[in-house]
Amino acid sequence: MANISRRGILAAGLGGVALVAAGGAWRVTRTPQTAMGPWELDPNPPEDVRLDAFRHAILAPNPHNRQPWVIRLLGDSEAVITADLARDLPITDPFDRQITIGFGTFLEIARIAAAERGYAMMIEPFPDGEDPSGLDSRPVAHLRFEQADDVAREPLFAQIVRRRSNKEEYDLSRTVAASDLGAITSAGGSFTADPAIVSKLRDEIVSGIETEMLTHAANMESVELMRIGHAEVDANPDGIELHGPLIEAGKLVGMVNREELADPQSTGFHQGLEMMRSTYGSIPSLVWITTPANTRADQLEAGRQYVRANLEATALGLGMHPMSQSLQEYEEVQPMYARVHELLGATGNERVQMLARVGYGPPVEPTPRWPLETHLT
Ligand SMILES: Cc1cc2nc3c(=O)[nH]c(=O)nc-3n(C[C@H](O)[C@H](O)[C@H](O)COP(=O)(O)O)c2cc1C
Repeated sequence: MANISRRGILAAGLGGVALVAAGGAWRVTRTPQTAMGPWELDPNPPEDVRLDAFRHAILAPNPHNRQPWVIRLLGDSEAVITADLARDLPITDPFDRQITIGFGTFLEIARIAAAERGYAMMIEPFPDGEDPSGLDSRPVAHLRFEQADDVAREPLFAQIVRRRSNKEEYDLSRTVAASDLGAITSAGGSFTADPAIVSKLRDEIVSGIETEMLTHAANMESVELMRIGHAEVDANPDGIELHGPLIEAGKLVGMVNREELADPQSTGFHQGLEMMRSTYGSIPSLVWITTPANTRADQLEAGRQYVRANLEATALGLGMHPMSQSLQEYEEVQPMYARVHELLGATGNERVQMLARVGYGPPVEPTPRWPLETHLT
């Protein structure tokens, strides 16, 4: 799942045409107005602790920002979470493994936010059973919220609204301290900053993103989820958002559009590919999460560990960027899958669920979110 950032498109589509004439007012009206609204939490929390937990949980990292979370409140202290099956990623995530990881991140953030209010959130995963080949209409989790005096509040709570997936290049002159990587993986996971190992993994990671972009069906899954320009981002605050003055200008003059980004012969595509090679290859250190097998419970646990790592990295001022191509199931990436599992020492049934680079990067903006109301049934 490639996320071509606006910088790539800018380089790709406009070939350096600077928008010097763009005035302040133009910029103001050409930025998304509502898409990032859910990050600005009302300082007066909802009375219902469940809504408070979920308004935080919808800020969780999730594959391709599909936000497939459907929430049904039950009685006054329970909730059922199911998947919006139309929000799957059939090519790059054929068994909904990554989508399930994204439910793990959602549940862990909900749990941390409930704890902040003095509530324990009890999770019963897949109460009506599960299908390893794909999610279905059965619940992903049944939740029960219970007020308790001994619920531990978590320092990571403060990072929920600050957390990002930072997809920019990192400062390769700054090493990441082993103690920081240890803290980031304290809930689970492993790390390396060893240049020799990083270099071998970088080859596989970069091959993975190249393969994704050059595999038509996989690339089209990304292209179809692109929201190009502020109006599309506000209308569909999910997927891959491309906005900013140069995107708007490129769109206006017909240089930034889906056709260009879908065409491997186009200049835009090639420059986008180059940009992905640079960002995916910018790896001061790596963290990964391996589970003993690949059950739905393993996937939820991987999501829980991943988001804790991402929150911890945020607290330490570090950027984190998952790069999942070499961990996916479709045929074209299987050579990278095998080598990454071997390099990371995963044997038998062990499954590497997440692989992310960690380093010092420039600050980045939050990504769009649908408002909480749209997730409630
Ligand atoms: C299971 C999973 C896999 C992901 N894989 C990738 C990836 O391969 N490439 C990437 O750029 N981002 C990846 N992401 C990050 C998402 O794109 C990101 O969480 C989403 O766009 C929302 O942005 P945010 O995390 O900044 O809020 C992944 C996230 C999750 C949970």
